[in-house]
Amino acid sequence: MAYTVQKLKDYSPAALDKAAEKLLAALEKEAAEVKTEPDGKAFRDRWVARKNGVLTQINDLWLKAAPKDAKREVGQRVNELMGRVETRVTEVELQCRDLAILKKAREAGLDARIDEARRALELSDRLDITLPGIPRPLGAEHPVIKTMNEIVSVFRNLGYSVQEGPVIETDYYNFEALNFPPNHPARDTQDTLFIANQEATPLRERLLLRTHTSPVQIRTMEKMKPPIRIVIPGKVHRNDPPDASHSPMFHQIEGLAVDTNITFGDLKGTLDHAMKALFGSNVKTSFRPSFFPFTEPSAEMMVTCFICGGGGKRGAEPCRPCKQTGWIEILGCGMVDPNVFEFVKDKGYDPKKISGFAFGMGADRVALLKYGVDDIQLFFQGDVRFLRQFA
Ligand code: DAH
Repeated sequence: MAYTVQKLKDYSPAALDKAAEKLLAALEKEAAEVKTEPDGKAFRDRWVARKNGVLTQINDLWLKAAPKDAKREVGQRVNELMGRVETRVTEVELQCRDLAILKKAREAGLDARIDEARRALELSDRLDITLPGIPRPLGAEHPVIKTMNEIVSVFRNLGYSVQEGPVIETDYYNFEALNFPPNHPARDTQDTLFIANQEATPLRERLLLRTHTSPVQIRTMEKMKPPIRIVIPGKVHRNDPPDASHSPMFHQIEGLAVDTNITFGDLKGTLDHAMKALFGSNVKTSFRPSFFPFTEPSAEMMVTCFICGGGGKRGAEPCRPCKQTGWIEILGCGMVDPNVFEFVKDKGYDPKKISGFAFGMGADRVALLKYGVDDIQLFFQGDVRFLRQFA
């Protein structure tokens, strides 16, 4: 039975309290039944409409009808009830508005996303160790590093050990101690990148990006007594504009053997063996005179083209890697110049007692030839579609 406002028969405070209580209980019951916006509107009308709302009724039936001596008491209750009812009506209306917003969100499909987020949160709290893991793609050796490792391992098998040195080097190690005196024209062949603002620093201490791995020859002889046999893989820089065969950053592998009675025959035998191990036992080697300040005599070594086999042609086509000559220039080498030993003489390298050979080759160039890649830039652009082919 819905609540209706009854006339009061008894105006005692206890009876007034009871009537007020009944009204408030009905208010709560009806508020709880409101589910939708239209319900909310009906609820408001029923309780606060000027015409015949419950509040109007208690005003008429309780207050106006009260005898004079009870008016004060009734008036107080009615006032209080009006406040309570209006607050409750506003609350219910707000609640309806929230419900309406939620409904709209549901219609817009947001609701599914809210549910999904909630589920994801719950799942992340749980751990199912029987689920397959998330596979992470494995990296692979870069083709240049792979080539360097291969070259190094050929020499390791001959008893050579590996040495490394800094990429930012001093003028002393990069040039002076390798017998490039200040202002020597051979320095011009090295297109050096210097660190800026060092005019006030003495020349031999000035910093530069090493242009070759040869400075590590000196660094190693300073700390290791002869005999030594070392290879030095590493990064070098030159002020060369990038093109298909040049890069301002590239890689070299240096070699140095120092002992008593090392001869040019040792150099030839060692390098010939190394080239056969790297490119196949069919390759032949050839030497022609050259110049490097730190070796005397100096040579360039050629290997027969392992692309065309030395014939200069691939079928009817001209062989491009060897420019149809059948030979590929692969490294620089020579007998260590006695002037170089002079810089480390007090470390046991007396040029009268010992001798040595050295060589240096470009690892990127070997990788280009080995893999038939026609642009060195591809090695350094980091495009996984290219790099993946070597994995
Ligand atoms: N450092 C030389 C260069 O970068 C290469 C080289 C030539 C290294 C002869 C050597 C050598 O050790 O003996 O051009």
